[in-house]
Amino acid sequence: MTEQAKKIPARSGPGGGGPGGGQQRVKEKPKDVRKTINRILGYFMEFRWQFIIVVLCLIVSALSSVVGIYLLKPIVNEYIVPFIGKGNPDLSGFLSMLTLMGGIYLAGVIANYLSARLMLNISTGTLRRIRIEMFTHMQTLPIKYFDTHTHGEIMSRYTNDVDTLREMISMSIPQFITSLMTVCGVFVMMLILSWRLMILVIVQIVIMLLLIRMIGGNSASFFIKQQRNLGAVNGYIEEMIEGQKVVKVFSHEPKVKADFAKLNRDLFVVASNASTFANVMMPILGNLSYIFYALTATVGGMLVIKGLMDIGTIGSFLQYTRNLTMPIVQLSQQFNTILTALAGAERIFDLIDEPSEIDNGTVVLVNARISENGEVSETQEHTGLWAWKNPQKQGADAYRQLKGDVRFEDVDFGYEPEKKVLNNVSLYAKPGQKIAFVGSTGAGKTTITNLINRFYDITDGRITFDGIDIKNIKKDDLRRSISMVLQDTHLFTGTVAENIRYGNLDASDEDIRKAAKLANADFFIRHLPQGYDTVLTADGANLSQGQRQLLAIARAAVKDPPVLILDEATSSIDTRTEALIEKGMNKLMEGRTVLVIAHRLSTVRNAKAIIVLENGEIIERGDHDFLLQEQGRYYQLYTGLFELA
Ligand SMILES: Nc1ncnc2c1ncn2[C@@H]1O[C@H](COP(=O)(O)OP(=O)(O)OP(=O)(O)O)[C@@H](O)[C@H]1O
Ligand SMILES: [Mg+2]
Repeated sequence: MTEQAKKIPARSGPGGGGPGGGQQRVKEKPKDVRKTINRILGYFMEFRWQFIIVVLCLIVSALSSVVGIYLLKPIVNEYIVPFIGKGNPDLSGFLSMLTLMGGIYLAGVIANYLSARLMLNISTGTLRRIRIEMFTHMQTLPIKYFDTHTHGEIMSRYTNDVDTLREMISMSIPQFITSLMTVCGVFVMMLILSWRLMILVIVQIVIMLLLIRMIGGNSASFFIKQQRNLGAVNGYIEEMIEGQKVVKVFSHEPKVKADFAKLNRDLFVVASNASTFANVMMPILGNLSYIFYALTATVGGMLVIKGLMDIGTIGSFLQYTRNLTMPIVQLSQQFNTILTALAGAERIFDLIDEPSEIDNGTVVLVNARISENGEVSETQEHTGLWAWKNPQKQGADAYRQLKGDVRFEDVDFGYEPEKKVLNNVSLYAKPGQKIAFVGSTGAGKTTITNLINRFYDITDGRITFDGIDIKNIKKDDLRRSISMVLQDTHLFTGTVAENIRYGNLDASDEDIRKAAKLANADFFIRHLPQGYDTVLTADGANLSQGQRQLLAIARAAVKDPPVLILDEATSSIDTRTEALIEKGMNKLMEGRTVLVIAHRLSTVRNAKAIIVLENGEIIERGDHDFLLQEQGRYYQLYTGLFELA
């Protein structure tokens, strides 16, 4: 409209293409392992003492098995071999060594129990915090985020990703530490016992690792694919549950079954490949370790015969080789699990790091008192009057009464930067006026209402509320001053009264009843089995579409705002009820600005102004009689519908 108006928003950047837009590819490998691990460790800080104890316990547990085995050497060499063939051996030393060994193993068991118990605390505590952070942050995300991510994708972060993370924290990490400690300890002890046999063992380990690579090398990628296919299967089930009726209407059951079978088969293939490692690898490695054991025993025996080694040494050395296979297999296995879990953790952190809705607004809504000479001042009491407070201004200047004047000045907008949906839209609704939007499907009616409460930010132009650019109003306060009945009603699990109270948490039972009467919902609610206390399930599945809309209107009415936006609010309601609602609403609408979108022209006929939209542009405006006289698009719509009716 004005030059100035055009200039201001030019700085604001494209409304449609915020960060995080565009396609989101499923990530398979963690991008930055160290950063992610550090971040997870950051969560452990809260439990740092417990975690330190866990690590100590794990060290004790690994050491106990290493030291316990080492004791075999002195036991054999000093308390068994010297007594072979002798009568009346002195067993006291032998018994005290056995007691020592038992004590060491017992310490290992206790340390193990303690670490598992503490790790449980740490993992559940960490996940509790992560879940809370995810959910809390999700509430701050712009609508755009939900436009560009499917529900299944967001859900899988709360389920799959959190679950693999839990597994990693509670199982893989402690196992990894134990395995690593054991392998290191065993190596050191082997080296102390016999470097000759050690060389043999190293050769064996290299063979084993090569084998693991050969058979299980691909299992990592299959493991990741398995996660993804599992997500696809779950997503399909979810979608089919939601679309059950449509499936039945078009007799698509065989097709759906076939599609599901295909997804399931893919999962089967990938899952069985992924399991190869655990199911095939383990027995092979198990058998191999017996062969290696025999080989080491033979070589060791020869060394003993040649006098290069004593019997005690070979005894504990062989025991060490038995204890080496498992940790090595586990280490290579846990490596994959940890990588997958880290990839999941990154998806979780992506959600937590997703930029929140930007809100630079400073103007807030306050309770107001208006003096006789019209001066607005702030008060703590609930006066029923509200004012915008601009903290940058002083004294009376800082306040402006909330009236509900909405204006669009040359507004351009597109959900995506390259596709304009609204073009040069200018309109105004003065306090107390009812403005109706009509136009064909996809013309941009809902879009206009989405812009008023800043679900999306405009590309160009200006929207003002009581003369204040809505960009300068704090989003929360802006939305508090507008009540909206959305095109698709959503009801929450809870009673009817609770669902209406959603509009205003302070509403008394009396207020709720009044709002329901206004919306003409009181009658049907009273006929529900438990009246206002009837529990609604799954988005109000136990109500009719029209009844759901009536509840949505009651919910908007109980909020008692200066601006009311009704998007197709009465589309599923019969004409007689609609007329009754309108009567009630007229009472509600007194002194309120109402923007209404309706396909039924009887609803819009008594509007102060009717705005006809086509392809995101206003092509006609005026009241009903004027537009009929003009014989333009409104006339066509009106007479066309008339014939249909
Ligand atoms: N979330 C979205 N992301 C991208 N494009 C969108 C989105 N919502 C709507 N659109 C596009 O914007 C245009 C206007 O949509 P809008 O919902 O405003 O239409 P409408 O006039 O309310 O139609 P209807 O009468 O069917 O409700 C359409 O072309 C639509 O494809
Ligand atoms: Mg719409």
